[in-house]
Amino acid sequence: MTYQFGLIGYPIKHSLSPWIHGEFLKRTNLQGTYSIVEIDPNVSFEEEMRKLRSMNINGFNITVPYKEKIIDFLDDIDEQAKKIGAVNTVLCKSGKWIGYNTDGNGYVRSLQSSFPSLKEGKEKKILLLGAGGAAKGIFHALIQHGYQHVTVANRSIDKAILLIENHPQCKAITLKEAEQTTDQFDLIIQTSSVGMKPHVDQAIIHLTKLKEDAIVSDIIYQPLLTKLLKEAESLGASIHFGHTMLLYQAQYAFEIWTDKRPPMDDLDTELQNILEG
Ligand code: ATR
Repeated sequence: MTYQFGLIGYPIKHSLSPWIHGEFLKRTNLQGTYSIVEIDPNVSFEEEMRKLRSMNINGFNITVPYKEKIIDFLDDIDEQAKKIGAVNTVLCKSGKWIGYNTDGNGYVRSLQSSFPSLKEGKEKKILLLGAGGAAKGIFHALIQHGYQHVTVANRSIDKAILLIENHPQCKAITLKEAEQTTDQFDLIIQTSSVGMKPHVDQAIIHLTKLKEDAIVSDIIYQPLLTKLLKEAESLGASIHFGHTMLLYQAQYAFEIWTDKRPPMDDLDTELQNILEG
């Protein structure tokens, strides 16, 4: 069979997903295509979805600005995606559209593949910086994987409080409090857009002290080495780059579509080379 996959969003002309899924198809010896379907926000989304339904597509990814909007067009939604309120992957099977969110689980998989000891370390103290859409996916995936002690720090504290609702073992703090207590955490995860190109000289908080053996992760991948990661590195921490989340959320989606887990050997370095030009 020849699989047909795609990506909807706007703007997506420069998306790396076609390259990543092309690699997965090669690595699993499956036949298929992955197309970009850019949907201008000024056209009728409903009409575009009707067109997509009439195509013989096996699955598609959804990116900004349609991750929430797609939910109304699904026949079913996975529990995790429902909790997050956003869908980035749709499986089209027997005429039904089933929505998933692979961002958070992909992130946790990328983290555990770089730091296998984290698979056992469920008691680790985690600081999540940011409480937006990306943080939400990562927070719920961390909880689902059994991590208990997640502290969420956000500029608007209300959003952090809302995120940890129903998780009494988790805490919500301000960015200032986070900055003053960074040495209490084993793992710090940066999920906001602060520090993204062209604002490479910005960091959501400054790191001046870290726990010995701390891991600092940033989901931004442009640039790969953000200001926050530079500071972490200079303090002796292990660092985790954002492009690996992109790879592993895609691997998760590919598995949902094909039941095959593509091997990731060297893909990390290859993507790093592409991003660094
Ligand atoms: P995404 O879906 O990419 O996570 P989002 O939902 O808009 O994007 O969330 C952006 C996150 O970055 C939020 O946590 C936001 O903080 P607020 O909730 O207070 O807005 C955070 N953020 C964005 N710009 C920021 C800045 N200059 N300083 C601190 N936090 C910032």
